[in-house]
Amino acid sequence: DITPVILSGGSGTRLWPLSRAGYPKQFLPFAGPLTLFQDTVERVHGGRYRAPLVICNDEHRFIVAEQLRARGRSAAGILLEPFGRNTAPAVAVAALCRLEACEAAGEADADPLILVMPSDHLIRDVPAFHAAVEAAAPAAAAGRLVTFGIQPDAPETGYGYIQAAGPLDGYPGVEALGRFVEKPDRATAEGYVADGSYRWNSGIFLFPARTYLAELEATHPEMVAACRAALAASREDLTFRRLDAAAFEACPSDSVDYAVMERTRNGAVVPVSMGWNDLGAWSSLWEVGTRDDHGNVVKGDVVLEDTQDTFVWSDHGLVSVVGLDSVVVVTTDDAVLVAHRDRAQDVKAVVERLKAEG
Ligand code: GDD
Ligand code: MG
Repeated sequence: DITPVILSGGSGTRLWPLSRAGYPKQFLPFAGPLTLFQDTVERVHGGRYRAPLVICNDEHRFIVAEQLRARGRSAAGILLEPFGRNTAPAVAVAALCRLEACEAAGEADADPLILVMPSDHLIRDVPAFHAAVEAAAPAAAAGRLVTFGIQPDAPETGYGYIQAAGPLDGYPGVEALGRFVEKPDRATAEGYVADGSYRWNSGIFLFPARTYLAELEATHPEMVAACRAALAASREDLTFRRLDAAAFEACPSDSVDYAVMERTRNGAVVPVSMGWNDLGAWSSLWEVGTRDDHGNVVKGDVVLEDTQDTFVWSDHGLVSVVGLDSVVVVTTDDAVLVAHRDRAQDVKAVVERLKAEG
């Protein structure tokens, strides 16, 4: 069986003003009636999946609990970080927690599988996702760190690039991991897309928990030590498990991609086509949305006149756009964003300025 680990600690700044520090994008319904977090939970409910471990910031604990409750789902644990230390420690804490449960069940030598999933992605073809996990499972059970690779359609610099290095003998659908390069510069990304053997890292991983920790410990011993200490001194509070802040403070910050995947000699990749989108910015919501005859995607109370390829999301008030192409307009009850669609990534800069200016 497989334990899903749902990473919910990100802040989704590029989807401001809807996504806020107090209520980040994974907890909002960007793609249908459920929130992205709820979609993630539902995707791995039942079958060969155990109840998930959720790891998020302390500040969001009640949002997580309520969104699980609303779906009638329960977690095996909700692990709370006092502050973010990026994904490598978050996955380490979840892996340690899973091993603890194995020990308690008298399976101290097991190397259980954890399926690490971001909580803020869209996956349209869920059967294809399940088939990919199915293909990955035997390789992970044999000690491989498996990632899922998406066919790239542009030289995006916000993704990891995975070189698939030919079939892995005895594991249908799985390829050996050649190079893994996290967030390359533009020119390098262009080279990878042209090369054809590279895929985007989806950010979803199937790991043997003990093997992941061993690889992390080899290069980042102080990180694993801090995670162990933070979990050992954690406090249980209702269904929550709060990591010890003093111990976690000592933990260096790094992502799974840099800390483990770029270095491992034990990687594998399952190429998958599953209608994946990481909904990184408003432009992604335009891409995945249902467009009208003029290429516009709208939500809420919106009137358009002589306007093309535009995205409007009104959470508050009537929005009208006249005579513009390729813009993004988002309104909430206390903020309005107007941007060129090609500059949607730069919304991050606005949020950083707002933060700096208090
Ligand atoms: N619990 C916890 N704590 N979760 C976190 C933390 C943290 O400190 N930081 C990030 N997360 C969560 C985010 O909420 C998101 O669901 C997931 O972990 C991935 O983090 P991102 O910050 O969104 O990573 P990224 O988008 O820059 O890059 C990753 O995803 C890309 C695909 O979307 C990498 O894995 C790339 O290689 C990959 O291409
Ligand atoms: Mg992301």
